[in-house]
Amino acid sequence: MKLFLDTANIDEIREINRWGVLGGVTTNPSLIAKESSDPDRVWKEILAEVDGPISLETTELEADAMYEQGVELARMAPNAVVKVPMTPDGLRAGKRLVQDDIRINVTLVFSPAQAILAAEIDAYIVSPFLGRLDDVASDGMDLLRRICEIYQVQGYETNVLAASLRHPMHVVEAAAAGADIATMPYAVFRQLVRHPLTDIGLETFLQDWEGLQKELKEGA
Ligand code: E4P
Repeated sequence: MKLFLDTANIDEIREINRWGVLGGVTTNPSLIAKESSDPDRVWKEILAEVDGPISLETTELEADAMYEQGVELARMAPNAVVKVPMTPDGLRAGKRLVQDDIRINVTLVFSPAQAILAAEIDAYIVSPFLGRLDDVASDGMDLLRRICEIYQVQGYETNVLAASLRHPMHVVEAAAAGADIATMPYAVFRQLVRHPLTDIGLETFLQDWEGLQKELKEGA
């Protein structure tokens, strides 16, 4: 499973990219708005920083306008992936973009039926939003499992991206469910690496090492 960052903040992206495990980035209009900067500049910086797929979201709602905007976004760089919403216009625009060999990410997916539609237009990525379903007392992980199962049975090649993840166990369970990609906020990415026993173990190792150095010095 590839690990993506769900952010438009270049400092967060640079820091995690240095770890060598960053597979790509997802952005959305809310994340771009948080940066209070020209969206084109923000997108271009991210596209240049990370080699993997970077999702840039359309904001037009009507199919023709969304298609035109998608073409412009795809032109920004070869690693750009165009996000379209799961709406009838999003499907129409998305299908045209796919026919132009542009990779698309169908976003705001909350049901298996919607995920089937995304696969039927040969989307590169489908994005079920797990956390937002959990927020309304529904089971986001169950949705992900059902989509992965349907895609396997049907032989769909669309990549399943577990989105709207809130904590490390979402990431672990998404991997077990068979997701191709998990996208997560910076804070969750950092939580993945931490374990109190790693910190305690490291501290003990270093103390013992220093003790040995002292012993050798005193014996010399
Ligand atoms: C995915 O591509 C979305 O940007 C994202 O995961 C939404 O997450 P949120 O529900 O935390 O806003």
